[in-house]
Amino acid sequence: RLIAGRNLSGLLVWWRLWSCHTIVGYQFHYLSYCTWDGPILFGEDLYVLPEFRGRGIGTSLLNKVAKVSLEGNCFQFRFVSAKWNQAATDFFSKLGAVNVTSQNYWNVLHVDGEHVWKLAEEARRSHPK
Ligand SMILES: CC(C)(COP(=O)(O)OP(=O)(O)OC[C@H]1O[C@@H](n2cnc3c(N)ncnc32)[C@H](O)[C@@H]1OP(=O)(O)O)[C@@H](O)C(=O)NCCC(=O)NCCS
Repeated sequence: RLIAGRNLSGLLVWWRLWSCHTIVGYQFHYLSYCTWDGPILFGEDLYVLPEFRGRGIGTSLLNKVAKVSLEGNCFQFRFVSAKWNQAATDFFSKLGAVNVTSQNYWNVLHVDGEHVWKLAEEARRSHPK
C-alpha cells in the first residue's frame, strides 16, 4: 500500500504490508527549481528493507514519485547516489536516469555549518536590514 503525506517541506511515501502494517520502504522527496529546467523534484533516501528487495517495491515508490512530479508540473526528478553504490546507480539507470556526473562532469557541492554562518554574517554586515 502506498501512502503519501506532507512532512515539513517534503513528502514521504511508505510501502506498508496490509498484514502487519510494517513500513518496508520509503522515499523522501521535495520540490526544487532549476533555472534551465523549471520546477523539479529532488529525491533522497530511497530505501527498501533487504528482505523485501527484488519485488518491485523500489520501482513502485519511484512510479509514485513520477506521478507526484507530473502533478507538480515537474518533468524531471533528481537523485544523488554515492559513487561506491554501483547497485543504486544501476537501479536508477534501468529506470531511465542519466548519470550527469560522468556525462557532463557535474560536481555536487555543499556549504555546511560554520561556512553558512560566515557567509550570512558578511551579508548582515554589508546589508544590516
Ligand atoms: C535500490 C533499492 C531501493 C531497490 O529496491 P527494490 O525494491 O529491490 O527494487 P525493484 O525490486 O523495484 O527492482 C527494480 C530493478 O532494479 C534491479 N535492482 C534492484 N536492486 C538492485 C541492486 N541492489 N543491484 C542491481 N540491480 C538491482 C532489479 O533487479 C530490478 O530489475 P528487473 O526489473 O530487470 O528485474 C534497494 O536495493 C535498496 O533499498 N538499496 C539500499 C539503499 C540504496 O542504495 N538506495 C538508493 C540510493 S539513495
